[in-house]
Amino acid sequence: MNFPENFLWGGAVAANQCEGAYNEDGKGLDIQDILPHGIKTPPTDGPTPDNLKLVAIDFNHRYKEDIKLFAEMGFKVFRTSIAWSRIFPNGDDAEPNEQGLQFYDDLFDECHKYGMEPLVTISHYETPLHLAKAYNGWVNHDLIGFYERYVRTIFARYGKKVKYWLTFNEINSVLHQPLVSGGILTPLAELSKSDLFQACHHELVASALATKIAHEMMPDAKVGCMVIALPLYPLTPKPDDVIATMHANNANDFFGDMHARGVYPGYMKRYFREHGIEIRTTPEELQLMKENTVDFISFSYYMSACISADPDKQVSEGNIIPGVANPYLKASPWGWQIDPKGIRYVLNRFYNRWQKPLFIVENGLGTNDELVDDGKGGKTVNDDYRIEYLNDHLVQVGEAIADGVPVMGYTTWGCIDLVSASTAEMKKRYGFIYVDCNNDGSGTLARYRKKSFYWYKDVIATNGGSLKA
Ligand code: BG6
Repeated sequence: MNFPENFLWGGAVAANQCEGAYNEDGKGLDIQDILPHGIKTPPTDGPTPDNLKLVAIDFNHRYKEDIKLFAEMGFKVFRTSIAWSRIFPNGDDAEPNEQGLQFYDDLFDECHKYGMEPLVTISHYETPLHLAKAYNGWVNHDLIGFYERYVRTIFARYGKKVKYWLTFNEINSVLHQPLVSGGILTPLAELSKSDLFQACHHELVASALATKIAHEMMPDAKVGCMVIALPLYPLTPKPDDVIATMHANNANDFFGDMHARGVYPGYMKRYFREHGIEIRTTPEELQLMKENTVDFISFSYYMSACISADPDKQVSEGNIIPGVANPYLKASPWGWQIDPKGIRYVLNRFYNRWQKPLFIVENGLGTNDELVDDGKGGKTVNDDYRIEYLNDHLVQVGEAIADGVPVMGYTTWGCIDLVSASTAEMKKRYGFIYVDCNNDGSGTLARYRKKSFYWYKDVIATNGGSLKA
């Protein structure tokens, strides 16, 4: 395998899906506190006891034990997010919450204790609830200023501890999930396209601003954007399917185009013109975006899908971006189609398009696991299916590296079991570490090493040499 010497192997989580402690130490509420059943059900008014994210896997209190387990696997990098509402409880507060700041100080220190670089997502689907209720999230221009205050605060505090930063998780998902991705309470069906793209513009300006400030305050920092990489293939070679696929891919790539090139692409200007979409921009904002492109592009990759020009073809949702099922691929029990070669394809496609280093910051198999006796008096999960999924994807990452694509690192999603983003349940597990917590909230929260734990440890120790092509 061709993994470079300094390849950043590790795992990824997000604050809202693992920390719990939703109202402790001065933390404010965020939008996840009103989504007890995930992204497909309407939000509640406030937190309800059936919301697993309120406690999640209690990472807030158990992070030392968990980081130690990650270190045992040999992680070089650990991706997590800072919960914005732990730092600014309402989002628009004048002063930050010291207890929240201290928590991440301790967490990052714990990573460094084991030589692990933190990779920090500044905003991962956890907009402070007050910003959603009082401002309708990123539709409102004021969010740029609140985000700026937040990033200045965390860059000043963690500048010596964190080198790798991601501005927004899966920023392109806002077109499909405006609440989760943009803190926008207006349901998608009622949201005008002008408001939706205005919100995109605000997030893109904020991202460029964060990149500029990061480079000014932390000269060694590397700032990336983060997008869902869900390659869309034409369902047939029919030219109409090919053109429909081109449009769908452009909609996803728009966000990477803006972060890598810093200018509105022609296809988007045409789309705005033809759909009567008007957004407010200023010459200063356009200049800011042009001058502050990112250092690298990071992405999540779970699946691919197909596009058809035929409106009668049944579309399913998978990971947020809708598409038609590929007749050549199998799917997970949650209907996410498994396509290892797709990761080689997107790595090549993204590099050819953007010419920036790439970082795979999410990949993995979310599925049911069964905790069994390990025959040595303990418990484990024999997750050969997860090993196969990860092995096959990593082999294709190796192929892309051999193709000449610069890949900085790879963090598996949910390196420890956590609450699912789409369905807010526990039984869709991704981890190398099983957490004893069930969909009904029962369980001891004890941690157990799965078979894949030892497999990944070996992959890291051999720098990919143990992978099976
Ligand atoms: C990505 C998100 O969309 O996919 C994560 O960045 C999420 O937050 C992951 O958990 C897997 O999705 P799910 O719905 O299986 O948790």
